[in-house]
Amino acid sequence: MSAIGIRGTFFDFVDDPWKHVGKEHEAARFHADGLLVVEDGKITDFGAYDAVAKRHQGLSVTHITDRIVVPGFIDGHIHFPQTRVLGAFGQQLLPWLQNWVFPEEMKYADRAYAKDGAKRFFDNLLACGTTTCQAFTSSSPVSTEELFDEAARRNMLTIAGLTGIDRHAPEKFLNTPEQFYAESKRLIERYHGKGRNLYAITPRFAFGSSPALMEACERLKREYPDCWVNTHVSENPAEVRGVLAEHGDCADYLGIYEKYKLVGPKFSGGHGVWLSDDEFRRLSRTGGAITFCPCSNLFLGSGLFRLGRATDPKARVKLTWGTDMGGGNRFSMIAVLDEAYKVGMCNNTMLDGSIDPARQDLAESERNKVSPYRGFWSVTLGGAEGLYIDDKVGNFTPGKAADFVALDWTAGPPGTEWHQSLVVGDGGPKDMEQAANLLFGIMMVGDERAVDETWVMGKRLYKKA
Ligand code: GUN
Ligand code: ZN
Repeated sequence: MSAIGIRGTFFDFVDDPWKHVGKEHEAARFHADGLLVVEDGKITDFGAYDAVAKRHQGLSVTHITDRIVVPGFIDGHIHFPQTRVLGAFGQQLLPWLQNWVFPEEMKYADRAYAKDGAKRFFDNLLACGTTTCQAFTSSSPVSTEELFDEAARRNMLTIAGLTGIDRHAPEKFLNTPEQFYAESKRLIERYHGKGRNLYAITPRFAFGSSPALMEACERLKREYPDCWVNTHVSENPAEVRGVLAEHGDCADYLGIYEKYKLVGPKFSGGHGVWLSDDEFRRLSRTGGAITFCPCSNLFLGSGLFRLGRATDPKARVKLTWGTDMGGGNRFSMIAVLDEAYKVGMCNNTMLDGSIDPARQDLAESERNKVSPYRGFWSVTLGGAEGLYIDDKVGNFTPGKAADFVALDWTAGPPGTEWHQSLVVGDGGPKDMEQAANLLFGIMMVGDERAVDETWVMGKRLYKKA
């Protein structure tokens, strides 16, 4: 296949901005006029237009103008079968699951319903600039099959797995540990590593998993150590209280997943709002990740994730960020950035603006603040690192997939023109600082309307109407 070029204004990351306090630009790359060369869906060259174009005479080039091109967003935690149950009023996690979520997810045992749901799901992701996700399915294998099949049709990197639960849900919705083990094994053989599909062994949460179901997960991970593990951890106070009653021999929530040898690289636990300092330290040591889901922290009233604690350089925890749709009320990772900023600003801060000394010191408080560098790194390269897929996606380094999104900085509320007056002046961003300010405006003022084009493996799969 012959190479193609994408010319435009590019912004991506080569390092973690939390490691570059006061000089975050060192973690980023910016080309006001750049060129991305793509062959067979993979990036083969990238840099300033003049330099790169010289190396590729006669290249067929698409020029994306008046847009800022960033790597495709990575949603590290999303529930595919909750696509049609967004926006249920007024309940915290456990009653919300019983009253709204389980009844809806039960419908995904029907193949036609699941197939249609998968189309809606990926259409929404692409319209939001999300090119990679780690997704929960339902307790029916049909839902996992339909998700992977639709992902393959679009060639989108998708990590997912049969989502096991054998407690605290309607009888009809429950797996047995034996059925969960056998179906997971069959699905791993059929989908893992086929095309861009990757399999995650997925106990829904320890609160809904008996010791026998957790043993099935342990056995699967032992037999398929290359697979991911995706679950929830310490999301909601009632859940945390309940889980320790179910798994009485474990000292804390993370300890349950540790007991069954699931925590380490390629493990991610959603939320982690109520993790202790000791649990953070253990995650840091073992390389397991937490997925920060700020829309969900706020929508389900679960609490505020301690981002500044997770990013403590003395015990840095790998992070992915996610929507948690429908526990989060948006599909958009731009909305996630918006809410992450607000969670960070409010977290552990007293109403008079001072810091709550019982929970954190000044350094932790500063680490809660989501600058545009921290934010956009977290939903691109940082998310890829948290999921251990940074060899495949996350930035424009040659060898990775050409998954990217073109953002329109003028697509905020009509008539505001904040970008003109505050940031850019005429034309696009001229330097890294202007670009970062522009990205901050997009994350705080914009939403999915700012997503103009989404490309997957060098093909444009979405263009805003
Ligand atoms: N814990 C177990 N299941 C779920 C779910 O569907 N959403 C959220 N937010 N938390 C969960
Ligand atoms: Zn979730």
